[in-house]
Amino acid sequence: MAERDHIVRVCSQSDVAQGAAKAFAVGDQMLAVYNLDGTFYITDDECTHASASLADGMIEGDVIECCMHFGAFHIPTGKVMQPPCETPLRTYAVVIRDGDVFVDLARNAAGDPQ
Ligand code: FES
Repeated sequence: MAERDHIVRVCSQSDVAQGAAKAFAVGDQMLAVYNLDGTFYITDDECTHASASLADGMIEGDVIECCMHFGAFHIPTGKVMQPPCETPLRTYAVVIRDGDVFVDLARNAAGDPQ
């Protein structure tokens, strides 16, 4: 996959307030963009437990708590922090360019291919 195919603009940095999360459609995927003290993270928006939008959840530090059954994930790694969630959340590498937030759909937040 060529770089231009898997690095896709998601939003402007100004679209997501500090301490907030917001969902954006990228192709046929819904992604959640988080702004934690000016550092941006991107994960799948759908909770791995059922079908809630994580962007509607509550951020505490670097953890997102799902609004449906209160499972939780570590935003930077996608690790499960609280049941009933069992499956880690998929994360994506973030690229910031000229005030815009891009997602690298081919790499996770650690930079590993996925
Ligand atoms: S849908 Fe998220 S914890 Fe159940």
